[in-house]
Amino acid sequence: MTAWFDNENPALRHCWHPVARSADVGDDGPVGVELLGEHWCLVRLGGELAAFRDACPHRLSPLSAGSVEGATLRCAYHGYRFAADGACVEIPAVDPRLPVPKRARATSAAGVAEHLGLVWLAPCDPVTPLPEVSEHDDPEFVICPLDPSDWNAGAAQMADNFLDLGHLPFLHLGTFGEEDDKIVADYSLDRDGWRFTASHRHLTKALSDSLEPGADYRTVERELLFVFTAPHHVYLRITYIEEGVVLTISFCHQPVNAATTRLYCTDYRNDIADEPEARAEAVAFQEAVAAEDKALLERMHAKAVPLDATAEYHSRADRITLEMRRMLADLVSEAG
Ligand code: FES
Ligand SMILES: [Fe+2]
Repeated sequence: MTAWFDNENPALRHCWHPVARSADVGDDGPVGVELLGEHWCLVRLGGELAAFRDACPHRLSPLSAGSVEGATLRCAYHGYRFAADGACVEIPAVDPRLPVPKRARATSAAGVAEHLGLVWLAPCDPVTPLPEVSEHDDPEFVICPLDPSDWNAGAAQMADNFLDLGHLPFLHLGTFGEEDDKIVADYSLDRDGWRFTASHRHLTKALSDSLEPGADYRTVERELLFVFTAPHHVYLRITYIEEGVVLTISFCHQPVNAATTRLYCTDYRNDIADEPEARAEAVAFQEAVAAEDKALLERMHAKAVPLDATAEYHSRADRITLEMRRMLADLVSEAG
């Protein structure tokens, strides 16, 4: 029987996942999020970011419906209060002279972190690292974040798509794809732990000519450097060789539930001014490209990627996406 890797694979509990933009979690109250089909509550308590299962230990009311009081979170239902480490510090219905039992504690995530402008959560001790994007802290680059978008697709399918080399002259003819770019030249592929790197050169439309379907364009060469970090992060640094322009894209995926993935996609550009209009133009381009991928992926019947190599046909152009499947299979063996 074919093993499939979907958004609710148990191995994903041992990984970091983005669950919100940092800016979406304010000091004024908790926020509810969904990850791997489970509900979590994010809250800042006394300057510390906490992530609890979104079910109060008392009667399972969502803690995300509660309110912040000083450095504690008060449940909306019967008023129990919890500190940032999950410990219950008050049970209003019981004589306050009696000690609060340790069992009345909110369940914390094994890990919560802020990284790349996002909140990351690991339900259980993570075996895979947080992804790295050096451009995020590099003043040479302008950060252009797209709004988060929900796709009716599996996170592994989306990472697969963002790593895929053979689809560019078909799916992306409306944006940057060059129809004479069909043969995928040989490329390097190196694995290091829970990351692999691939480097590839190919032909594409010039960046400045990429948004007008049917219009004349110049064909240029560009270099793609991919870094995949398990389970789902894709770093893609695109160097337009002649122009010396670097466009790095960070694809962060939140496996919300079996049928939905939220994409946090950010462009980093070294060729534009750090001004709203220039950023908006960069974002509009990336959104047009993403829309081409989304339209197809949402039509895929299964919302998962098979881990059995015989379930799909793989050509020599597909070594990069086959490597992703191998890494996910290793993740299942180690953490599933
Ligand atoms: S359900 Fe939270 S205090 Fe009762
Ligand atoms: Fe694509």
